[in-house]
Amino acid sequence: MKGIILAGGVASRMFPITLSITKQLLPVYDKPMIYYSISTFMIAGIRDILIIVSPNQIENFKNLLGDGSQFGININYEIQQNPNGLPEAFIIGENFIKNNKVALILGDNIFYGNEFSYILKNSIEKHDGATIFLYPSNNPENFGVVEFSDDRKIISIEEKPENPKSNYIVTGLYLYDENVSYYSKSLRKSSRGELEITDLNNIYLKNEKLNYEILGKGFSWIDTGTFDSLYEACEFIKILEKRQGIKISVPEEIAYRNKWISEEELYRQAFKYKNNSYGKYLNKIIDEGKAFGGKYV
Ligand code: TTP
Repeated sequence: MKGIILAGGVASRMFPITLSITKQLLPVYDKPMIYYSISTFMIAGIRDILIIVSPNQIENFKNLLGDGSQFGININYEIQQNPNGLPEAFIIGENFIKNNKVALILGDNIFYGNEFSYILKNSIEKHDGATIFLYPSNNPENFGVVEFSDDRKIISIEEKPENPKSNYIVTGLYLYDENVSYYSKSLRKSSRGELEITDLNNIYLKNEKLNYEILGKGFSWIDTGTFDSLYEACEFIKILEKRQGIKISVPEEIAYRNKWISEEELYRQAFKYKNNSYGKYLNKIIDEGKAFGGKYV
């Protein structure tokens, strides 16, 4: 499966901060926001990644991420001229997708939870049609909301409904089959002037090809699109990292544990940051691997 990270948009809710720098390169505590979505793909085993960015941001992304080889992955870039909606990713990315299945993640979404890697790999393995990932929310009216039948099948998805039919919302992570570009091209813009991911998912629903996974108790999903939610995300990551003495969503670590980069390459990465906590953490990963005979690597 290939992966697309949608990292364009205007981020108007975060002006003036995002007038000159894109939201997805802002820090979420100790690393750039885009590291979290890249890490999500990496723990799912996805190595072939397209990042879609706004026209004036491509150099910033390339300066940070290059071709991805430092993370043992392959990163391509495409530009989205205007924020015409999420399904445009599959039109812009048509040549990248070719005849493959593809995952989409929004570059401002952070997922964290026990066994997430297992949940993702399992969903990818049994994947057919489309798969969406649902999360219980206190304010479902701001999101795409699903309605379930008595036997827990999805019977509708409504975008930002006034009267939500459940409190389960659709998060910014999706899996699709090889027909997704074809279906996306058939969509028409909504009254907001955008192609809507809910309309795309409704095509799969109509074809009885829409599956879901619930990210339940103990799982965290944060959409970092506002000042408050970004602040909360920073706090959340900081607390977890401090308490557990680990770091979350470090692509170099995932690459090393997946055996996508060598110990030598990890040393090289650690050396770049040798004077800060990120570099010390990478060195700790190498040392741990040695101390336990590679057991945790
Ligand atoms: P949004 O949060 O809906 O849009 P935005 O980031 O432009 O923010 P605002 O509402 O404050 O103006 O987008 C969610 C994610 O999807 C975000 O990472 C940007 C990305 N996106 C695109 O890359 N292209 C698009 O056409 C849209 C709609 C979103």
